[in-house]
Amino acid sequence: MDRSTEELVAVGNRHNSPSYSPRDVVMDYGKGVQLFDRDGNSYLDFVAGVAVNCLGYNHPRLVAALRDQTQRLIHVSNLYYTAEQIELMETLTERSFADRVFLCNSGAEATEAGMKLARRYQRVVADAPERSRMVSMTDSFHGRTMGAITATGQPKYHEGFKPLVPDFGYLPFNDPSALEDIDEKTAGVIVEPVQGEGGVRPADPSYLQALRERCDATETLLIFDEVQTGVGRTGDLFAYQGYDVVPDIICMAKGLGGGVPVGAMMATEEIFKGWKIGSHASTFGGNPLASAAAKTVLDVIEEDDLCANVRERGQQLREGIRSLAESFPVIEEVRGRGLMVGAECGDAASEIVDHCFEQNFLINTAGGDTLRLVPPLIVSESDVDEALNRLESALTSWRDAQ
Ligand SMILES: Cc1ncc(COP(=O)(O)O)c(C=O)c1O
Repeated sequence: MDRSTEELVAVGNRHNSPSYSPRDVVMDYGKGVQLFDRDGNSYLDFVAGVAVNCLGYNHPRLVAALRDQTQRLIHVSNLYYTAEQIELMETLTERSFADRVFLCNSGAEATEAGMKLARRYQRVVADAPERSRMVSMTDSFHGRTMGAITATGQPKYHEGFKPLVPDFGYLPFNDPSALEDIDEKTAGVIVEPVQGEGGVRPADPSYLQALRERCDATETLLIFDEVQTGVGRTGDLFAYQGYDVVPDIICMAKGLGGGVPVGAMMATEEIFKGWKIGSHASTFGGNPLASAAAKTVLDVIEEDDLCANVRERGQQLREGIRSLAESFPVIEEVRGRGLMVGAECGDAASEIVDHCFEQNFLINTAGGDTLRLVPPLIVSESDVDEALNRLESALTSWRDAQ
């Protein structure tokens, strides 16, 4: 190690995009739920790359699959098949309602693809060119491309980027009385079953059912943005399965590659009739390295029954934080589903995150006022106990500092 951490951070701060503000720490390696910086400090990681590292760090199956894959083939383009890509698409469709998959590299690309498919389906298959309006929810988050920020129902993400994509509308999340606004001019509705960036807010099951019914009644396509909720995060492989509401289109990314960038948008054969050769594409989408990673992640989730672990550990975590809330009234509400857990703390949220960092416990905020805990899906009972201990120490030191 030639350069000190301070020197490296200074260089990083000189060259990094000003849209980021990482902590003054340089991470070096990880093992399970632990992350280690280059100065030898270890952290209990309940950020998990922002709900990405679902198998934790250094998972032997994922490492072996990637090692094998890099030695054979990293990329070939979508001009040719690879067995890895075919088997990933087969697995995704076998375990969901979908027949076909469009593979891409990120969440924004997956939501963008979903909205493009909805619009083209209405225009080309349903022969309804007047249906171009896309509807999303207040406090939603769908990514950072122009289409995805337009769908994102939070004005702060629009600042300085207008004009946005035309013909979008926003409905209050979880409010069935507003669903009348979905009508014969609407191409599609995009919704997160559990809002992530907006503050870890689960949809009410009755709301998603009413939304499905309204979409059916008006022949509008229902797009579930499962970029954060998908791949086991909520205790089902896809959150729609736990809600028992089947969308027309589903978008995913984050956990899918266990840290390797990969996204996917899926739908039925009928909906995919909206696209023909060349309608949409991605150079890197579904390359063999990403596909090998995603196939391994899906296999491990099933073989190790990680969804059961997610449900149990999620309950343990929520109950533990609820009992901390009795001593720390700064915690106003505990929400979530599976291992997507939020604790609303008002203006104190980011200070508490800083105090957690002092305890070598990594969490972050969502919606500005909510602590978000999204550990790897492999987290153990004792990891959750340790997380609750560190959260208690952080809350105590935050309280002492007031
Ligand atoms: C629900 C949801 N959709 C889309 C995105 C965008 O994903 P990406 O950052 O991979 O483009 C995110 C990222 O946080 C997300 O939570």
